[in-house]
Amino acid sequence: MAQKLQPPRGTRDFYPEELRVRSWLFAHFRAVADGFGFEEVDAPVVEHEELFTRKAGEEIVEQLYHFELHGRRLALRPEMTPSIARMVMARAGSLPLPARWFALTQNWRYERMTRGRRREHYQWNMDVWGEPRITAEAELIGAIFALLDRLGVPRDAVRMRLSSRALLEETLRAGVLARRPEAFAPLCVVIDKLDKIGADAVVDLLTDPQGKVQLARPDAQQVVDWLGLRDLETAAEGLAADAAPRAQLAELFDWLDAYGVADRVEFDTSIVRGLAYYTGTVFEAFDTARNLRAICGGGRYDRLLQTLGGPALPAVGFGFGDVVILELLQDLGSLPELPRELDAVVFAFGDAERPAAIRLAAQLRGAGERVELVLANAKLKRVLADASRSGALRVYLVGPDEVTHGEALVRDLASGEQSRHPLPV
Ligand code: HAM
Repeated sequence: MAQKLQPPRGTRDFYPEELRVRSWLFAHFRAVADGFGFEEVDAPVVEHEELFTRKAGEEIVEQLYHFELHGRRLALRPEMTPSIARMVMARAGSLPLPARWFALTQNWRYERMTRGRRREHYQWNMDVWGEPRITAEAELIGAIFALLDRLGVPRDAVRMRLSSRALLEETLRAGVLARRPEAFAPLCVVIDKLDKIGADAVVDLLTDPQGKVQLARPDAQQVVDWLGLRDLETAAEGLAADAAPRAQLAELFDWLDAYGVADRVEFDTSIVRGLAYYTGTVFEAFDTARNLRAICGGGRYDRLLQTLGGPALPAVGFGFGDVVILELLQDLGSLPELPRELDAVVFAFGDAERPAAIRLAAQLRGAGERVELVLANAKLKRVLADASRSGALRVYLVGPDEVTHGEALVRDLASGEQSRHPLPV
């Protein structure tokens, strides 16, 4: 049987022109994280399966690429957060806090394929560990907008929507979950689907007698109605005037104002996030036209470490994928042209001149130039045509006369001008 030429569905090959785009994007991710004083970390893409198997009914757990090898249950990471939590836990007690970490990771989720969702994607993660104050959320949201600005995304093309699981939790505990606080995490997982499956389907799931939440129908309807609120005062009506989640959200908007981004962020109770571990602020950024999936998402997850058996440690962070932002830049016509970058081609006319050409290439490479040494004994015409196509600036020709005189002939490909360059001995 012939070998299939496509990689598995939902995964990507990166040919040079595609990898250039990815590297360009990653360089911006890194530059912003560096600028915000975050340190880069990494972890294996294969982890113990149990690190990811939470029981709240999250899609991400159902989408796990998992397998057994020599009696061990392993999985490809669907997200970086649990691995980072494991790393923090392994150093708990000795890690200087707060830790500000970033990572660029490939993640695997067996998704139903839609625009903006693939089975393999990269994520830029920034997380702050050990900082309970909402100043951390503001810093992270500031970093996201710094990235969007660097990429040339127009100011009004992306909006951040945010809410607070703590606000939702306190509201529900004062009402429909008064006697069932443990149903909160699975409830979040269900109501996160509102956009995708609609209000009726969410009510059906919340009231399903076999489900994890099992609300009465009027209670489920009340939850869905709350998710329609867009004003903090109304959403926090059921709580005391000085309730912490309400005060914190108000404080967050003050800090965001200082970052100069408050006008790009809106309060939206329907932002819940589909991952069970969030406990506080939750946020997602979308293209303003709402043509695309979420560009990034994150929030506060102060109890994740405890869930994994570690000490209590506040944490907040976000994941920002490579797929949707590139779709948005494409739609906006803002993707830069990224031609191959090559400074010079060095060409020996024959094997007799090759040692001199090799020494010349080494000299130029040593000076930081990107140099392609022609490996075949090709025809000059062909070499010049290939060099122009590859975007080289100059061609160094090393023929018998050049070796005799100790100088390569240098042709500037843009101007056609010729000059001489001494051959190293
Ligand atoms: P998430 O919302 O599942 O959060 O993913 C974050 C971002 O990764 C999404 O907004 C999207 O840009 C991208 N993404 C996720 N799944 C896919 C996919 N199948 N195809 C393409 N892009 C995708 C998390 O993963 C959390 N761990 C983020 C986090 C870090 N929270 C705290 N720290």
